Amino acid sequence: MDQKKLFIQTIGCQMNVYDSERIARILAPLNYETTTAIESADLIIVNTCAIRQKAEQKVFSFLGRLARLKQKKPQLIIGVGGCVAQQEGEKILERVPFIDVVFGTHAIGRLAGMIKRVEKKRCHLVDVKLAAEIDAFETLQDFRNDGKITRFVTIMQGCDNYCTYCVVPYVRGTEASRHPDKIIQEIQDLVACGVREVTLLGQNVNSYGQKEGHGSFPQLLVRINAIPDLIRIRFTTSHPKDLSTDLSRAFRDLDKLCKHIHLPVQSGSDRVLKRMNRKYNRERYLAKVDELRQFRPDIAISSDFIVGFPGEADQDFEQTLDLIQKVGYDSLFAFKYSDRSSAPAARFSNKITEKEKNKRLKILLELQDEITVKKHRALVGSTQQILVEGLSKKQAPIDNPKPGQDSGRQQWTGRTSTNRIVNFEQEQPSQTQNRNFTGRLVQVKIKKALAHSLRGTPVRIESQSITLKGDHSYAA
Ligand code: 5AD
Ligand code: SF4
Repeated sequence: MDQKKLFIQTIGCQMNVYDSERIARILAPLNYETTTAIESADLIIVNTCAIRQKAEQKVFSFLGRLARLKQKKPQLIIGVGGCVAQQEGEKILERVPFIDVVFGTHAIGRLAGMIKRVEKKRCHLVDVKLAAEIDAFETLQDFRNDGKITRFVTIMQGCDNYCTYCVVPYVRGTEASRHPDKIIQEIQDLVACGVREVTLLGQNVNSYGQKEGHGSFPQLLVRINAIPDLIRIRFTTSHPKDLSTDLSRAFRDLDKLCKHIHLPVQSGSDRVLKRMNRKYNRERYLAKVDELRQFRPDIAISSDFIVGFPGEADQDFEQTLDLIQKVGYDSLFAFKYSDRSSAPAARFSNKITEKEKNKRLKILLELQDEITVKKHRALVGSTQQILVEGLSKKQAPIDNPKPGQDSGRQQWTGRTSTNRIVNFEQEQPSQTQNRNFTGRLVQVKIKKALAHSLRGTPVRIESQSITLKGDHSYAA
C-alpha cells in the first residue's frame, strides 16, 4: 500500500497538542505519515479550539484557505476535529461545504473508521457524540519518539465546573478520569522512548479520580514520581477551589514534581468571581497561595486572567491589579472576555466595550512585565538547574550548519523547575565539540535577564547519558 501524507493543524491548547499526537498515532495504521508540507498532504486534519472568539476566528480563516488546495486536488480529504467541530457539528458543512469529516472531542477513537469510509465512499461524515465515560485511549505500541524530551499526557477529560464564561463543559463533556494504571503505563512507555519530563493534562487535575474512585491526584503523583528515569513532572491546570493541602504538600515531598503551579484566578474581585461562578473568593485564593509557599517557599505561580468580564467595574479591575501585586506572579496569561454563545455570560448585561477591554489588558500586562523583569533580574548571578530540551530554534544542528552560521557556538534551550526558559551557549567549543545536551540536567550560571527568558553559561552537567529506543541515542 502507498504511504499517504497527513498534515495536522493544531489550534488552541495543550490538550489539542496531545489529541493531535493521538490522531497521528491512530491514522498511522491506515498508512498515513505526518508531513509539515501542506501541499503534499492527502489528508488534512484541523484540530480546533472554541475557548475564545479569536481562536474560533482563526479556525475559520484557516479552513477558508484550504478551498484552493481542495480545488487543485479534489481527492484531498479534509477533517475538522476538536471543540469547534463539537460545537458546530453539521453546521460546519453549511459554512465550509468541502469538508469531508467532522469529528467531535469524543470521536477521536472512531476517526480511523471514518477516514476509511470516506476513502472508499467519498461521503461526508459527522460524529459529535459525547459519552459520559472516558474514551479508551490506545496504547503507545510502536510509538517512535521524534527526539522530544517533554511530552503531554492526558489524565482526564471534560469539566463539571460550569464557569459562566466557559464553553469547555459543553464541548468537552463532563469530567472523566483515566485509570491510573493506564496513565502509568503510558508514561513508562514514553520514558522508554527517551522522554524525561511529562506534563499531566486535565481541565481540573485537582479533582482527578474522584468520580471513578481512582484515588486522588496526589496519590497518582506519588506513583508517577516512582517511575525510574523520569526526571520531571508538571501538570496543568488546577482549579483553586479544589487545591488540597495534600497537593500543596506534594511540592515539598515529591522530588520530581516541578516547583511551578498554574493556578488560574481569573479576577481579583469577589463580585466578579461570584458572577463567574468560580466558587472561591480572593481571601480563600490568597490562603491557598500562602499554604503552597509554606510547603515550597520557592514555588513559581502563574495564572490566567479575564479582563472586561460583563459588569466588571473600575473598582473590580483595581482589585485584580492589587491581587497581582500581592501574589507576585512569575507569569500570567490575560485574555479579553469574549462571548461564547453556549456559556451563560453571553447573556449577561453590562458588557464592557472593546476599547475599555484593550485598555485594561494593556495595564495588566504592563504591571506583570514589571514584576517578571524584577524576578528575572534577581536570578542574575545564580546557578539554575536546567533540563535541556534541545537546540534553540534559531540554531541549526552542528552537523548541518546554515551558511554563515557560527557552527561552533550552538545555543541550547531548556527550562528551570520553575518553568523559566533558559538559553545557554556551549563554552569553549573546541574542547567539547559535538556535545549533545538534549535530555540532560545542566547547571547554568545566569548572566542575563530578558523579558521572557534568561541566558547563561553551563557550569556542570549532571545526569547520565541516555539511550533512546529507536534511532535516537544521546551520548555525552
Ligand atoms: N473569554 C475570555 N477568556 C476566556 N477563557 C475561557 N473562556 C473565556 C472567554 N469566554 C480563558 C480563561 C481560562 C483560559 C484557558 O481561557 O482565563 O483559564
Ligand atoms: Fe472552563 Fe471553568 Fe471548567 Fe476551566 S474550570 S474548563 S474555566 S468551566
